[in-house]
Amino acid sequence: MKTKIGVLSAGGDCPGINSAIHWLVISALDKDLVPIRGMMFDILGLVDGFKGLAEMKPDKKESIKRWTMPLNADIVRTWDRYGGTRLGTSRINPFDSRKDKSDQIIKNIKKLGLEALVVIGGFDSLGVAYKLYKEGVKVIGIPKTIDRDLSETEYTLGFDSAVNIITQDIDRLRITAGSHSRIFIVETMGRRAGWLALEGGEASGAAIILIPEHDFDMERVIELLRIQKKAGKRYSIVLVSEAAKPRGMEAVHERRGRDSFGNHYLGGIGGFIAGEVEKRMTGEVRYVALRHLQRGGVPSAYDRRMGRKFGIAAIDMIVNDDFGRMVSLKHGEIMSVPLKKALERLRLVDVDQVL
Ligand code: F6P
Repeated sequence: MKTKIGVLSAGGDCPGINSAIHWLVISALDKDLVPIRGMMFDILGLVDGFKGLAEMKPDKKESIKRWTMPLNADIVRTWDRYGGTRLGTSRINPFDSRKDKSDQIIKNIKKLGLEALVVIGGFDSLGVAYKLYKEGVKVIGIPKTIDRDLSETEYTLGFDSAVNIITQDIDRLRITAGSHSRIFIVETMGRRAGWLALEGGEASGAAIILIPEHDFDMERVIELLRIQKKAGKRYSIVLVSEAAKPRGMEAVHERRGRDSFGNHYLGGIGGFIAGEVEKRMTGEVRYVALRHLQRGGVPSAYDRRMGRKFGIAAIDMIVNDDFGRMVSLKHGEIMSVPLKKALERLRLVDVDQVL
């Protein structure tokens, strides 16, 4: 008898998800491991995350075809080297009280005959996974988010690729900034944590880094830019996280509204800072929001390797009946941690530790 496993990606896409799916499938279907594990698996890819699970009608052939993708080694052969998610994703909260889809999802998991569900997600999607676990679904989590803000793991898929993109884009901007003697305000993603701006800024040598964990003083930013100018710098790069906030002011967002998890739509603080700098200093200022460029492209070597480790570990956890837990990297070792613990708080930058 084969154990049927469903796998889905939910929330924002990122490089490394496909690598995790690739290695999860390769490991699960490795015939040489059958005698050691005493188990055989069937892997069903679930299309478009929780949206697919909520909308599918498992009694209808067409619907199954639309929302599922049986996976094997041939199908996933080249997936490890591609960014995004070949299974598709969505950002819906099935437990949203206004349109609760959780019962439908649980029924569909049963109708599909899934004995385990692997959810590749960030804070919000793994929160959904944990709620499903509490409702009796045998869930395993794989951490992914370019924000790297999940607790109980030192790594989430996508972060390294995103930091590389930020670094490369700033290298590009330096050239034009230097040619024109301009100040560039560059906005990174990072819904709640400043890791992307901090490590992207450290890697690229940005003059000023602004993160959500520490409200910034606009006067001080201007002062630092003036010091740079006085020191003869032709240009300056200010890196600001989309969730960074000016001290004593409301957060600045270009777009109103929230998603189904209650998160504000972010973006726009870079434009605000550029406007303030322009008002108070002579010289030209430009604003670039990197936005979804940070989630695009191919996975870095590190994300491919971590996708491999996380995907294989997820299957090992199923073999060991390690449900309700998330794959994790701690002190360089792959292990598993309770989802409950990983979701208790976010992993934020400790500003007192930043030198
Ligand atoms: O996945 C995390 C993230 O990239 C955040 O950094 C960002 O605020 C958000 O997703 C953007 O979400 P969306 O893709 O729905 O615009």
